[in-house]
Amino acid sequence: MGRKLIAGNWKMNGLSHSLSEVKSLKEKLTGSENCDVLICPPATLLASLADAAKDSVVLLGGQDCHWETKGAHTGDVSAQMLKDAGASFVIVGHSERRADHDETSQMVARKAQAAQEHHLTPIICVGETLAEREAGKALDIVLMQISGSVPENFQAQDYVLAYEPVWAIGTGKVASPEDIKTMHRAIREKVGPDVRILYGGSMKPQNAAEILSVENVDGGLIGGASLLADDFYGIIKCA
Ligand code: PGA
Repeated sequence: MGRKLIAGNWKMNGLSHSLSEVKSLKEKLTGSENCDVLICPPATLLASLADAAKDSVVLLGGQDCHWETKGAHTGDVSAQMLKDAGASFVIVGHSERRADHDETSQMVARKAQAAQEHHLTPIICVGETLAEREAGKALDIVLMQISGSVPENFQAQDYVLAYEPVWAIGTGKVASPEDIKTMHRAIREKVGPDVRILYGGSMKPQNAAEILSVENVDGGLIGGASLLADDFYGIIKCA
């Protein structure tokens, strides 16, 4: 596997003054980092962040997209719009979208397809809840979500997968290296050798080195710790 991908998901955080975090990150990055660096800000900040990140290695992405290109979908953002604003990636199927907006894997697959058609790389998120893990169903659930969420025509280079156990997101609880290893191995067997598989869920500068060294972990999807340049850079250095 090639370079790791360290992706920040700002979620519904960030105002115009947050541009300073990107500028500060840009100053820290030398260009000789061992990984690709991506920030997915709220759509309102995408264009100004694209401007702030110009001439740096920082890539930008959206956090969700509609499957249609345009039209009567009040409040939604299309893949084409994200591309136009400077994105090269888009997160689809994050567990918060699946929970808050009742997104099904079938909807996620349509979003991933739209992303690909508009030359964005979708980061397709999957992950089990605590109840599913405790019932011994984590592997089955995750593999089923992958089957439903990854369009059948996709090749390995068309997408990135993010395994994010729901109970580890924003909770400070991290899956153990052993659990991450088991899950990522199962995902690897399903998707083949060339798909980038990220881990997400309470990744911080303090635990990033251990998580990123687990076999078949090709990077991280980072929420809380991506908001401040110092923390995010601390994770980038571990890659
Ligand atoms: P967290 O979020 O790092 O704050 O746990 C990760 C994610 O939801 O992508």
